[in-house]
Amino acid sequence: MAGDALPGAVSTSTVSETASSSLWSFVGDNPYFQAGFGLLGVGAAMTVARTGSIWASTMLRRRMLVSLEIDNRDRAYEWFLAWMAHRAKSSTASASRTAPWIRSHELSVETMIERRPNGSSSVFFQLVAGPGTHWFKYKGAWMQVKRERETRSMMGGQQTGTAVPWETVTLTTLSRDRILFPELLAEARDLGMQGQEGMLVIHTAWGTEWRPFGKPRRKRPVSSVVLEPGMSEKIEADIKAFLARRKWYADRGIPYRRGYLLHGPPGSGKTSFIQALAGSLSYDICILNLSERGLADDKLNHLLSNAPERSFVLIEDIDAAFNKRVQTTADGYQSSVTFSGFLNALDGVASGEERIVFMTTNHVEQLDPALIRPGRVDFSALIDNASPRQARILFERFYGGEVTGDHKVSSNDLDALADKLQNIVEEKMNNGQRVSMAALQGHFIRHRAADAVCSSLELFHA
Ligand SMILES: Nc1ncnc2c1ncn2[C@@H]1O[C@H](COP(=O)(O)OP(=O)(O)OP(=O)(O)O)[C@@H](O)[C@H]1O
Ligand SMILES: [Mg+2]
Repeated sequence: MAGDALPGAVSTSTVSETASSSLWSFVGDNPYFQAGFGLLGVGAAMTVARTGSIWASTMLRRRMLVSLEIDNRDRAYEWFLAWMAHRAKSSTASASRTAPWIRSHELSVETMIERRPNGSSSVFFQLVAGPGTHWFKYKGAWMQVKRERETRSMMGGQQTGTAVPWETVTLTTLSRDRILFPELLAEARDLGMQGQEGMLVIHTAWGTEWRPFGKPRRKRPVSSVVLEPGMSEKIEADIKAFLARRKWYADRGIPYRRGYLLHGPPGSGKTSFIQALAGSLSYDICILNLSERGLADDKLNHLLSNAPERSFVLIEDIDAAFNKRVQTTADGYQSSVTFSGFLNALDGVASGEERIVFMTTNHVEQLDPALIRPGRVDFSALIDNASPRQARILFERFYGGEVTGDHKVSSNDLDALADKLQNIVEEKMNNGQRVSMAALQGHFIRHRAADAVCSSLELFHA
């Protein structure tokens, strides 16, 4: 029909047909073009094949391989690296033929320094898998470990120089072996937690994260911190009652948190008691230092609301941090935590998360009333210098019972000496003179029982 209306068009199409058929015959006859088209075809086929094989291998990976990514914000990260290092070490030790490493040229060292209160320290090295790809066999399954480090994005406080690179380890194995992942992680966790039973873990702030500080310490029995009779039981009962009332708080929409303030003169056992209490409840301690460089309100807020589970946040010498509201260190550095920022962080966003904050101070009278109002401080207790009774109990603990060797005294003598000491403390107290429990402890360490009592007079101060 189109041809009837437009005869010209028909002739044009005829012309182009003739031209194209001659083009085809030209191309068909030309060997170069033939080869070119051949190559093109092969290329195209290869591209298709390659795309196909990539697609197929992706599909295969998806279907047959499974990956598990652990990043260094997760506690499992350190556990896993330590676990791998442990396996490598134990297999080399037993000279086993099935060494778990095929390739372990990239190692990195992790150094742990433990400083003890007496000034000594120990250093431990652990060789862990460095960034790169490693292989190992676990319960008959091959696993690939890829440790990657992203240095551009750092986590932590750049200003404080505590920034750490973002890292991940990716474990890949056959899909059918995926059930091994939880087993492996549980094994790594058990190894990581090994020796932490009966231990107290202290965390410190590392940028915006909490990290365990040093090696876990041995727990101190609560009874070894001698407070005024009944005081220790009172605090323990309060915290236990709080821990038992999670639902009660939730039902009433009250934020589930409690603040404790222990105040009193230096060396009366505030810090020791908090540590012992944490240990007895199997809680960790997170030490928050408000004067730390680079700690600003937002970080403080983050740290307070992201403390590890089952832990006390401990803020020492709260008076020193805020009695002037703006904090300035000796070198003129001004902390960027503001008083109001701190109050807000203590209030925090209402959440179901449990939070227990312990604060200590030597000068409760210098604290701003806003800080010690209920909700921020719910329980406040004076932990004072030695009372006659406390001095007596500490003395008895020191020289009686299990203690052997030079310090051992017969129970009759012990009683008489304890009476004498108790009287001395009482008399001095009536004259307005006191002694700290720390001073008594130091004195008892240096003296035998009888000498300790006789020479105790010099310890008292107004
Ligand atoms: N009530 C106590 N019972 C047993 N030991 C105590 C007691 N008070 C202090 N000590 C001993 O004295 C030392 C110092 O105690 P601790 O650090 O707990 O005092 P503190 O009240 O926190 O002092 P500061 O206010 O200076 O921080 C510790 O070695 C501790 O064992
Ligand atoms: Mg203290």
